[in-house]
Amino acid sequence: MGEKLLLFGPPGVGKGTQAVRLSAALRVPHISTGDILRASLQSHTPLGNLVRSYVENGKLVPDETIVDVVRERLAERDAREGFVLDGFPRTVSQAAALADILRGTALQSDVRAGAIVDSVVVLDAPTEDLVLRLSGRRICESCQTSYHVTGRPPKRAGTCDRCGGTLIQRTDDAEETVRFRQQDYLQKTQPVIDYFLQNGWPVRVVDAIGDIDQIFGRVYAAIFWR
Ligand code: AP5
Repeated sequence: MGEKLLLFGPPGVGKGTQAVRLSAALRVPHISTGDILRASLQSHTPLGNLVRSYVENGKLVPDETIVDVVRERLAERDAREGFVLDGFPRTVSQAAALADILRGTALQSDVRAGAIVDSVVVLDAPTEDLVLRLSGRRICESCQTSYHVTGRPPKRAGTCDRCGGTLIQRTDDAEETVRFRQQDYLQKTQPVIDYFLQNGWPVRVVDAIGDIDQIFGRVYAAIFWR
């Protein structure tokens, strides 16, 4: 049975960076709600048209929309045994919906959702570090690999090392929007940690400042040395 993990934390804390590594190491799918929404924007699907203005302006999309997206994705075959869920839940109402979804996938309505998830990894870092990380982030428009202009530059400026795609800046990584996203996290998303703790979900807080590989080691230890 694979691990069922949630990666939690403020914008820019490194959820995507660590989720890619965890997904490869544990052989479970990386499910990023941000990636799913951005892909829908790129391919102009009805979902993309519905959420475009929210995503581009760094605002949370409505709970009912994102809950449907996650319910569908978790019902897919590859997610049955395990997953790394990145970017969801982001409100207490989404957390309650996730509890229902997990109880449904476990086919056990009486089991506590917190007992279905193996770990909720909360990545933690000061806001000012995150503003610097996000305003310097560049992503590959083809494969979504993430870089940083000074911290993790590509070998050739503007070009993805992995697939040769063009590197772009996300519209929601403009500094003003980044500050709005951090504020929104504190108001709407941070209270979800209390929800997890009150409902017995296995929360592990990990210091997300330092070298990416070093942080991966901390995350791995937090998951397996329970
Ligand atoms: P989403 O894509 O989930 O954005 P986010 O949570 O704001 O997270 P980010 O992707 O910005 O950061 P991250 O923590 O993954 O960090 P990363 O690894 O990239 O969501 C985007 C939008 O979709 C939302 O604003 C909303 O509109 C919508 N949405 C998504 N989910 C939703 C939901 N549940 N409900 C409602 N709306 C939703 O790293 C950041 C940078 O730092 C990179 O450049 C990276 O290279 C660098 N870096 C990483 N680790 C380190 C390190 N240790 N040291 C130095 N630099 C580092």
